[in-house]
Amino acid sequence: MDIPAAVIDDLKHQARDAARHAYAPYSNFPVGAAVLADDGEIHAGANVENASYGLAMCAERTAIFQAIARGARRIRAVAVYTPTKTVTTPCGACRQVIAEFGAEVQVVCFADSGAVEQRYSIGELLPQAFGPTNL
Ligand code: THU
Repeated sequence: MDIPAAVIDDLKHQARDAARHAYAPYSNFPVGAAVLADDGEIHAGANVENASYGLAMCAERTAIFQAIARGARRIRAVAVYTPTKTVTTPCGACRQVIAEFGAEVQVVCFADSGAVEQRYSIGELLPQAFGPTNL
């Protein structure tokens, strides 16, 4: 079932707000994400970098892990915000983590201009994904 526009607006609002909490002193590339769980709850996260650069964690995974740690079992959508002119789509690792919850999970990527928004299903972003049904 389609996610109501007002819910997507709330999800985007929380993703944008979360970017304010990004810890990105090395890349100076703050990212905010928000996850809509199937119970209607929204869980947000931001990227967290480290002096050992390779340990950086993306906003999308921070938000998903937050959702799961707070009790969510399934997710319906992920919004990704960057304070940039062009939108940012999830990296490969985040695509795999999103795909765990099904090919139909919606990914809404947006940036600072309201006109700039891209929507995908995770099945489009990661076709033929490895997942729970392979095990
Ligand atoms: N990053 C995210 O948080 N999400 C993305 O979709 C792309 C990249 C972060 C990781 C790192 O902290 C910074 O952006 C630059 O790669």
